[in-house]
Formats: sequence, structure tokens, C-alpha cells
Amino acid sequence: MSRSAHPAGPRHADVLPEGHYSAPAADLNVLDEKVWSRTVTRDADGALTVGGIAVARLAEEFGTPAYFLDESDFRARCRAWADAFGPDADVFYAGKAFLSRAVVRWLKEEGLNLDVCSGGELTTALDAGMPAERIAFHGNNKTAAEIERAVEAGVGRIVLDSFQEIVRVAHIAQRHGVRQRVQIRVTVGVEAHTHEFIATAHEDQKFGIALADGQAAEAVRRALALDGLELIGVHSHIGSQIFDMAGFEVSARRVVQLLAEIRDEHGVELPEIDLGGGLGIAYTSDDDPREPHEIAKALSDIVTRECESAKLRTPRISVEPGRAIVGPTAFTLYEVGTIKPLEGLRTYVSVDGGMSDNIRTALYDAEYSVALVSRTSDAEPMLVRVVGKHCESGDIVVKDAFLPADLAPGDLIAVPATGAYCRSMASNYNHALRPPVVAVRDGEARVIVRRETEEDLLRLDVG
Ligand code: LLP
Repeated sequence: MSRSAHPAGPRHADVLPEGHYSAPAADLNVLDEKVWSRTVTRDADGALTVGGIAVARLAEEFGTPAYFLDESDFRARCRAWADAFGPDADVFYAGKAFLSRAVVRWLKEEGLNLDVCSGGELTTALDAGMPAERIAFHGNNKTAAEIERAVEAGVGRIVLDSFQEIVRVAHIAQRHGVRQRVQIRVTVGVEAHTHEFIATAHEDQKFGIALADGQAAEAVRRALALDGLELIGVHSHIGSQIFDMAGFEVSARRVVQLLAEIRDEHGVELPEIDLGGGLGIAYTSDDDPREPHEIAKALSDIVTRECESAKLRTPRISVEPGRAIVGPTAFTLYEVGTIKPLEGLRTYVSVDGGMSDNIRTALYDAEYSVALVSRTSDAEPMLVRVVGKHCESGDIVVKDAFLPADLAPGDLIAVPATGAYCRSMASNYNHALRPPVVAVRDGEARVIVRRETEEDLLRLDVG
């Protein structure tokens, strides 16, 4: 990533401080389509519009902070993934990125499957009518009650994550008189180039069963021996926000090698492999994500090649993108409250949300973009740090970015690419009220997750 200081400098400094920022765009009013959802544009007055509706109207009707989700973009991305992988593969949307009943209905209509990883996500999926056979259930420590519900509902697959779970699921399935379709999640030993907290295929972490020391082969032996289980395949998820396909290719190769070993030892060719999610999106103009068709081609080429050389039937591939589908489809809209210029440093811009609606900056040092969206401006760029209203100095939404120097309280600013892991990881810190998610499409906006109220807070506080 090329990072350099802006030669002109911010309004309050001759020399820019150390930081992790790119030079400002030549024109701050231009919205980089890489980071904004597809129907976002500026109207004749310079205000940002999404789905044909101007942000001022959205702010007036729904308040700030709020997430605005571009429904037609979401649906288009679902279709792009489904088309790229075609009828011989399955795309499971990873619900952890963001899940609501409306989202489940869109997925169902667009032909996607759904990956859930908790009882709550399972309930949401079933309640909104996702057929159970199109649901995959994940997690490194599913409770007995969650497994029970998943088996009872008839989920299409449970991804087994530990030796204990192999036995637990088998027992529960037997008690229900069914053979539960399962996959075994293996850790293939790939070091994914992403933040440590979201890398999952190296061995020293909590997920999956290691390939390297023969543990995965042992898990397969045990699963094949249990009547309650129908082992349909092997699963590998290497991490999140990954751009380099090399890690996926190593993972696919190792998973296929395991299938060959299983065939040699047990005489069975498992029919499926799941290569997980984790494809990166553009948070800033420096990020260059892959298109679904490139990803599909890279994965299917490598699997086909490896299978040919191992003389295996090519298994059905599934993938589990979460962020790559929902991430780019939403932005968070904030109102600027206070502005604090620090001579020689930067300008702190406080908004009406913060780490309670986007924890990713504090947790992963994530980078975001930001734009003034209620109007355009010809003022000089100034180096800003967009911060929230929480009682914590690490309450940062956008660490280093440029906004016009005439920014004023009352202006609306928006942070794009907040569709994934923002509302789903939102908290009530400082008794903040979690913002609504508003779906916008073809000139209509409707709340799909409503704003929390103080009554909601008090309802849980039973005295
Ligand atoms: N499949 C499995 C088994 C997963 O664990 C995950 C994400 C996904 C699929 C979807 O990954 P995606 O395509 O969305 O990257 N909170 C972090 C991300 C944690 C991801 C956890 N697992 C973040 O905000 O970056």
C-alpha cells in the first residue's frame, strides 16, 4: 500500500504528523465507487443520494447515526457470487457479517444458502423462512441445546469443529433417529495475511482440527464410524479480509490431499469441500478486491487440477462470503457535533456515534474512508480523525482521513463499507442506543432493524 503525506498539508499544520494515510484525493467531492455502494451518487445540489434518496432526507426521517443499506446492490452481489460459482457449487452467505430477517428473505430470493454460527442466527434464519436444508451451522463451541435445535430443524450441514462435537452431534442425531450431514473443519496451516484476530488457518488458535499432525485424519476416522453422522466433506476457512488468492490455493490443495488420503484409507470419496469465506473488500481507495468470477475461477481451477492429479472425482465446492457481499452495500451516516483543531497535528471531528456502532477501528486497527455528504465543498483538505462520543480515547471511527477545512457542526458525514461486522458487532457501551439499519431501494427507504430506545435498555435492566 503506498502511503504518503499530502504536500499541501492540513489547515492547521505546515508539516503533517506521522500517520497511516494516503494523500487526499484530488477532489474530495468525488466519491470513489470502489468504496461506496452501487447506487450512491451526488445529486445536483451536491448531496449524496443512495437508491435515489438524498442523505438529508434520510437523516431527517431516520435520524443519525444510522446504517443505510443499498438493497439492490446487496441483491446484485448475491447474484454475482451465485453466477460466478454456477450450479455445481454452493454459496453460503456468512450471517455473522450482518443478519436480519429482511436479509434472509433477500438471500432466499436470490438463491443463496446461509451460514449461521449461533442459536440466535439460526432462529433469525428459520423465522424468516430460510429452508433448513439451505443452512450450515458453524461454531467452535456449539451448546448441546443449539445442536439439538439444528438437528431438529433439519439443517443441511453442521460443521464439526472439535473431537467432542463429533460425539455430541452423533448422539443427538441418533436420539432424533436421523443421520446428520456434517463436514469437519480442518486447519490447514496457512498463515493468512490479515490481522491476527481474524486469521484462522494457522494451528495456534481455537478453530478447527489440525491437518498437519494427523488429527484431521483421526477426526474423519471417528466421524465415519458413527451411525448418527453422514460425513459429506471437509471445511477450511483461512481468515478474513484477505486479498491474496495464494492462501486459498494452498488451503484448497491441502483439503484435496486430505480427500485423497481418506479415499486411500477408507475407500470413500467425500463429495464436498467448503473453502470458507474471507475475501477482502475496499475500505479505502488503496484496496483492490477481487471480483467473484476471478475468485470462482481461481478456486475451481486449483481444485480441478489437484483432483485430476490425485485421480479423485471433483467434489462440489462451497464458499461462505460474508463481508464481500454485505460489506460494500452500506454506509454509516453521522452528524458532526464538535470540531477540535490541534495545531501541527490534526483536527478531531466528533460524531454522534462511535465505537459502539463500529468497533473495527479500535479492535483491528481497521482503515476506513469518510466523506462530507450533505453538501460539496471547495475548501482545502484538512487531516482529520473522526471520533465518537464515548468515554474512551480509543473511540476512533476513522483514524486518518481528509475532509474539507470548512467542515462545520451539523454537517453530515458518511463512512462507507460498514455493511459487515459493524451493526453485527455493535454494543451498548455507555448505554448507547444501537443505530437502525435502513434498507434503501428505488426511491424507497424502510427500517429493517429499528433503532434501540431507552425503553429497550430499561427493559433488560430488571432492577
Ligand atoms: N466462514 C467462516 C467459517 C467464518 O468463520 C467466517 C468469518 C466467514 C465464513 C465469513 O468471512 P468473511 O467473508 O465475512 O470475511 N469481525 C471480523 C471478521 C471475523 C470473521 C469471522 N469469521 C471483522 O470485522 O473483520
